[in-house]
Amino acid sequence: MKRTPAGDLRSDHVGTRVLLKGWVDSRRDHGGVTFLDLRDRSGRAQVVLREDEHPGAVEALTAVRNEWVIEIEGEVLTRATANPELATGEVEVLADRAEVLSSTRGLPFSSETALDATEETRLKYRYLDLRRPELQRNLLLRDQIDLEIRRYFHEQDFVHIETPILTRSTPEGARDYLVPSRVQRGAFYALPQSPQIFKQILMVSGFERYVQIARCFRDEDLRADRQPEFTQVDVEMSFPTEEDIFELIEGLFARIFPLVEIEPPTPFRRMTYAEAERRFGTDRPDLRFGLEIVDLTEGLAESGFRAFQATAAAGGAIRAISIPDAADATRKQVDSWVRIARQHGAAGVLTLRNRDGEISFQVKDVLKPEELAWAADRLELVPGSLGLIVAAEPAVAAATLGALRLALAEEYDLIDKDRNEFLWITEFPLVEWVEEDGRWYSVNHPFTAPMPEDLGALDVDLGSVRARAYDVILNGVELGGGSIRIHEPGLQERVFELLGIEPAEAESRFGHLLDALRFGAPPHGGIALGLDRLVMLMAGAESLREVIAFPKTTSASCLMSGAPAPVEAEQLAELSIRAIEDADASDPAGDG
Ligand code: AMO
Repeated sequence: MKRTPAGDLRSDHVGTRVLLKGWVDSRRDHGGVTFLDLRDRSGRAQVVLREDEHPGAVEALTAVRNEWVIEIEGEVLTRATANPELATGEVEVLADRAEVLSSTRGLPFSSETALDATEETRLKYRYLDLRRPELQRNLLLRDQIDLEIRRYFHEQDFVHIETPILTRSTPEGARDYLVPSRVQRGAFYALPQSPQIFKQILMVSGFERYVQIARCFRDEDLRADRQPEFTQVDVEMSFPTEEDIFELIEGLFARIFPLVEIEPPTPFRRMTYAEAERRFGTDRPDLRFGLEIVDLTEGLAESGFRAFQATAAAGGAIRAISIPDAADATRKQVDSWVRIARQHGAAGVLTLRNRDGEISFQVKDVLKPEELAWAADRLELVPGSLGLIVAAEPAVAAATLGALRLALAEEYDLIDKDRNEFLWITEFPLVEWVEEDGRWYSVNHPFTAPMPEDLGALDVDLGSVRARAYDVILNGVELGGGSIRIHEPGLQERVFELLGIEPAEAESRFGHLLDALRFGAPPHGGIALGLDRLVMLMAGAESLREVIAFPKTTSASCLMSGAPAPVEAEQLAELSIRAIEDADASDPAGDG
């Protein structure tokens, strides 16, 4: 007899015999009659055991507890009282034969108590946590999204090609995970941070349209939306414009988001990097709420307040956001915002309050009434609103207000969680200056093409050069990023040099790409989407851990398998590696 999925049972099955296999979800004994909920991937169904009718079946399941695995056979009957909460709620199965397939020891937690267990316990017994309906649903959704993505790209004539996992470092800004070579002593592979160079080279080979659901590895600081290994939907095209890439990705989203009943409005909004930084203090603005940043430098630079004068004189900016119905914010709240400001390098925040039309600045008597009125007008500080002002170097003011904007939107519940704001950010700067290192770094990666109109500035004002790069954002989360690439070897060499990569070093690290570019490279470009993040947002999950079967902790461990783990000395010797014992942390001088 063939097994029937428990969750498929409906009233059409009444009168038929079925075989069910799965886990006992719950058990209720009513003297002579026992009800079991049997659960499998498809759902749950009620099984009835009757002592008077089928004692053998009752006998077989006497010891059964929750989470035991059983099989039962019997007839489908209409339930006396239907359970409208359950898809199978109109029927039940009267078991005439039963068997225990597997028993269980005492469980560390059940589906119902899982959320009371510590995250550590849940990760250690991840397979049990994965029995929870929410996680089951997330992984099944992930599978559906994955399948739809593959179908879409296949229909758009893309070829799925696998690139190596044991490879050389590709600079995407994080540290590499290294794998020692046994046969070549002292040499290492790097796990790919992305398939960037390989996909570009595939364009030189003439594949024209490449896609890969690619695992990537980055040793970087982890957070809710970052895992050390994650999956990209990695795409590259020959002869594209930015518009072709936007259209392709908008088409993809229009295809997959309906899986969760979201219809993205296409085309998506667009904003340049400069505008996003100016208005929202970030390159990934959440547009589900306002709280836009307003510049007050012009009207307050010459005011009687010394801090404003000094900031403006040093080329800084005085900027602010205004929060409705927050004029009564407490001292404690303001202190918490000051802490956020300090984390972002600002000295603090200053409040400007409009209580019933009366405007007051935190520091008394330093601003003239007309300055107060001007600032309130600029900020549209309506009665009951609170203005938060930050005076700092422009980038610091932007980042600080960007962070405050997010924190206050949460605190004052201003985010419409039913809205979905898709957005393209364009015209990123090509490079950024990192003061500690005294050199320029690529904002994206070094293969990104400069905007043609800015080529002239490459040698005279590198910091002002814009890149043909773009990111796709949903509700403040960076879902993906890409660019049109450099396809002329001469320009690529020049960009390496501007980034402080000497020709010899460029040849040694990127010679294979430079060579490929010298042998007939088509203009090309692409994008990579973070699949985990995409699924996280589509599932309405708060963390990548909820959409990855076996995720890692913030210290990059897998608590279930115990990775990473020490290895035997012989294994290291074979790899010509010797581990250096960590210096004793309590002895920072290292002389104990
Ligand atoms: P980028 O570095 O922007 O671009 O990565 C693309 C997307 O991958 C996701 N992502 C991550 N997801 C989870 N955990 C992480 N640690 C993590 N890091 C990145 C993000 C991000 O937008 N080669 C380029 C793409 C290109 O130019 O075509 C690249 O890797 O959603």
